[in-house]
Order: sequence, then structure tokens, then C-alpha cells
Amino acid sequence: MMARKKFWVAVVVIILCIFIFLGRESPQTADKEEEETVTEESIVVGFSQLGAESDWRSANSESMRATFTEENGYKLIFEDGQQKQANQIMAIRTFIQQEVDYIVLAPVTETGWDTVLQEAKDAGIPVIIVDRMVNVSDESLFVCWVGSDFELEGRRAAEWLNQYTQIHDIPPEEINIVNIQGTIGASAQIGRTKGLADASRSNGWNLLEAVPGDFTRAKGREVMESLLKKYNNINVVYCENDNEALGAIDAIETAGKRVGSHITHGEIMVISFDGVNQEAMQHVKDGKIRCIAECNPLHGPRVRTIIEMLEEGGVPDKFYYVEEGMYTHDDTVKSVTVDGKVYPVTVVRHVGGENFH
Ligand code: AHR
Repeated sequence: MMARKKFWVAVVVIILCIFIFLGRESPQTADKEEEETVTEESIVVGFSQLGAESDWRSANSESMRATFTEENGYKLIFEDGQQKQANQIMAIRTFIQQEVDYIVLAPVTETGWDTVLQEAKDAGIPVIIVDRMVNVSDESLFVCWVGSDFELEGRRAAEWLNQYTQIHDIPPEEINIVNIQGTIGASAQIGRTKGLADASRSNGWNLLEAVPGDFTRAKGREVMESLLKKYNNINVVYCENDNEALGAIDAIETAGKRVGSHITHGEIMVISFDGVNQEAMQHVKDGKIRCIAECNPLHGPRVRTIIEMLEEGGVPDKFYYVEEGMYTHDDTVKSVTVDGKVYPVTVVRHVGGENFH
């Protein structure tokens, strides 16, 4: 009987000790509370970035990180989706649980976002889409979008080729193009692929094949290697970003062929998009890439302006298109005109520093 009593006294003492220990404020708890105070005052932004496939993407992530700092009054929660939509959906659900103030989404592909964006809307969290678009049945699922007109980029690049070949009296039937596409289903791929396909049809060019290159150098090289084995008449390669272009150049040179603008004399002309990677810009200066249609990655300050407007009760426009230019090796083509609008080209005379507007 006595032993049993002692046992229960011991149990009660141990439980009391545990409570006292847990209740005591450790230095880490104090720090955490301080951190939470900062967070409470800051605007919390959950950013689901799609991956890190290209130099453009790195510049875009850096622009967001440099903008949404504690000094600027923000706490940024950055999640890398590693090219998988499932990871991005998971990140958005976590942001909802964390009750962030804003969700910013750079979607890997356009479709498949309705359900998770409805969840964010139901939770009352505004969603801003950046870079690529989402294709949803109800546009009220996101507040607004900011990014590039990818089809216009493609049309401008194609129009540059059209003018270049006309100036050099190269007949359209002698133009044999391969398209190394980006990630299939991404707005940048859809728009750029369409820009070229439409121009090929209307100008009478031979578009030999369009193959996915995932926006990476490794895939660009791999795809170009097999295209060179399959076709012996390629004289233009249209790469949907600079990283793919660098891979394609590696493959062309390894195969013993030359990149350049003498496309009726065995050279292969490289056309590309972005203008972020310095090696690619050097290639424009040297003539290995003849033309780059700019794609501007510096969206951090643009998203911040939108958030500030929302904080003040303003209503942003639904779509913000970024102004973009063209980079070329020389001024053979002085400007390109699409839908009556004239776009100037910038001849790359030196490389380094900031290229963007
Ligand atoms: O969505 C923008 C595109 O994505 C860029 O052109 C490309 O480099 C990136 O991976």
C-alpha cells in the first residue's frame, strides 16, 4: 500500500517538473518572439518560383529577393518548385496555412491552377501572377499578372529574320529552320513557338521541326546534336532562350559546322531570347548569335508597386506587359515593325552591366 502511494507521488512530481521546465522562457523563445514581432509588422509574401533552369530565372529570383527585404518592410518566403507543378501547388497550400499576406506565383505551365487558386481566394489571400500566365476558368482567382508578351517576342524575332533575309536577297524557300522550344505548356514556349510557326507559314520558310529543349543548355545541346544528325540542310536555329542557344552552339561547333550569318554558304544562324546571360551577349557581339529578343526578368520592383497599391486600397490593372527591346550583332536591320508598331534594335558593342529597362 505504502509503495503504491510513493509511486504516485513520484509520478506527480515528475509531471510537475515537466510543466515547470516547459513553461520557463528560454533565450531561443525570447528571440523567436522578437522575430515574430518583426514578422507581424512586415508584409509577408510567399513566392512560389518555378525553378532555376536558366540565367533569366536566376536574375528573376534575385530581383524578388532584393526587393522583398526586411529593410523594405517585407518578409519573403521563397519556395523553389524545381520545375514541378505539384511542388508549386504544395508551396501555395503551405503559404495559405502560414496565413501570408500575399502569394506571388511564377507558374511553370499555364494550366492546372484552378483548384489551388480557389483555395487561396477562399482564404482571402490575394495572388499575383508573375512572368508566365495561368490559364484559369475564372480570372478573379488572381488579382493581376505582370510579365512579357511572349508571342510578340516571337513575332519580333521572326520579323527580324524576315527583314534580314530580304535585305540579303535570300529566298524564303532556302530558309530551313529548327525550333528548340522551351518547357512545353509554359507561356514563354507557347508564345514564342506560335510567333515562329505563324511567320514560317506566312513567309514560306521551311520549319523542319520543333523539339522541346526545357530552357536549359544541356537539353539545347542534346536536341541540336540529334537535329544535326537528322537534317543536313539546317541553316537557322531558333532557340527559345539563351541557355538553349549556348547548348546549340556547342553542338554545332562539335559537329564541325559553323555558326554565323552566311546561311546560304553552310553557316547556321542562331536566334534567341532573353539577353541576360553574358556569354550569350558576348556571342551577339561576336556574331555567333545574330539576334536576341529581350525578355526582362526584373519583376521584383513591379510586384512591389502592385502590393503597395493594394495596401493603399487601390485596384491594379489586370495585366501589366513589360516593354522589351532587341539585341543584334549589327544594324543591318535597324528596327522591326509588328502590327504597325516600330521596335528599335540595339547593336551590342560592349558586354557587361545591366541590359534591361
Ligand atoms: O518565362 C520566361 C522564360 O523562362 C525565359 O525566357 C527563360 O529563360 C526562362 O527559363
